[in-house]
Amino acid sequence: MKGKKTELILALDLDSPEEAKKFLSMHCSKLKYIKIGPRLFIKGGKDFLSSIIEGGWEIFLDVKLHDIPNTVKGAVEAASELGLWALTVHTAGGKNMMEAAFNARGSCEKPLLFGVTVLTSMDELVWKDVNPGSSMGECLKIRAKAALVAGMDGVVCSAKDLKLFNEEEYGGLLKVVPGIRPKDFLSKDDQKRVATPAEAARSGADYIVVGRPVLNSDNPDKVIDNILEDLENE
Ligand code: C5P
Repeated sequence: MKGKKTELILALDLDSPEEAKKFLSMHCSKLKYIKIGPRLFIKGGKDFLSSIIEGGWEIFLDVKLHDIPNTVKGAVEAASELGLWALTVHTAGGKNMMEAAFNARGSCEKPLLFGVTVLTSMDELVWKDVNPGSSMGECLKIRAKAALVAGMDGVVCSAKDLKLFNEEEYGGLLKVVPGIRPKDFLSKDDQKRVATPAEAARSGADYIVVGRPVLNSDNPDKVIDNILEDLENE
């Protein structure tokens, strides 16, 4: 069982760096971790990331690196100079690719490296379409094990996947869980394998990642407060 409180990471998936900075200053004073995806990173680059760090937040750069080991090595070396808290690679790239990422980070402790296992937007139907003849559950375990052996600090998976990862074998990995929908937030958008913040915390998530339920709300402060309260009560 996990001893430490589950923490909230806001997925700041907005249209522009300007909009994102405004949102941060208006609504995110209670948050520590901000996830930046490809759109804002491509638009805002290093300067945008630096401005977030200067504001006191920790950045999780979620670009899901998935390429040949040498290319991923170069990307992690470059990302390691950005002052990030965490960075994602895709476990589907295999153990050698993740080892290249681990070695590229060198002796620094940051960025933490998280291996994305299976996207939370995939259900069994989509999974079978792109991975005929293979079980999603088995794949999740094999990919997470490869991440552990390669030196990744954690894995990204759905709350429903956490039961696959027993403490004895997978305890060394942090569990980062997107696909979160507060119970009064009806829309699942494109997410399929979803859970509430409390369910994810109870299942052993170290971090939950929430985007649209906060960003699309008329009252983002209230949604953030409710999630933090749910996590506090677990
Ligand atoms: O808006 P929503 O809460 O669905 O956002 C979830 C965030 O987590 C998105 O930024 C998405 O890219 C990311 N993510 C995910 N599933 C994964 C890995 C990352 O939804 N397996």
